[in-house]
Amino acid sequence: MQMVQELAEVDEIIAKYGGDKSAIIQVLLDIQREHRWLSKGVLKEVSQKLEVPLSQIYHLATFYKAFGLIPKGRHSVLVCLGTACQVRGAPRLLDKVIETLKIRPSETSADMRFSLDTVNCLGCCALGPVLVVDEEYHGKPSTKEIQEITTARE
Ligand code: FES
Repeated sequence: MQMVQELAEVDEIIAKYGGDKSAIIQVLLDIQREHRWLSKGVLKEVSQKLEVPLSQIYHLATFYKAFGLIPKGRHSVLVCLGTACQVRGAPRLLDKVIETLKIRPSETSADMRFSLDTVNCLGCCALGPVLVVDEEYHGKPSTKEIQEITTARE
């Protein structure tokens, strides 16, 4: 049932761009934003509807970092490992986040609540080390704050 709904959303996105195959990247970006990843079924649908070979779509989906081919959790957790944050204790922060979420960078929790990733500088070095949860920035959070920030999210 969920797949049927996902494909209906894909069709809507494709229709928004008038079924124009030259808008394929924009179509994939919109789907990525909506679903947080690009499933095989969704890519097949895009291929059929836009009449673009599936191999070409896979090539795009694996070439651009903005696309993900594995499911992401409902909440995005980022730890900055840029130089300024490293100096200010980012490795310790990452350890605390790993301990709290019980997942490592590039992993998603089994209950699909969280996906953890690392980044290189978010442009707010003075706040470092920086934790971003669902685009909410937290500078130098304590273990207690990390627990509060994450437990507040279903
Ligand atoms: S190094 Fe982390 S925000 Fe710049």
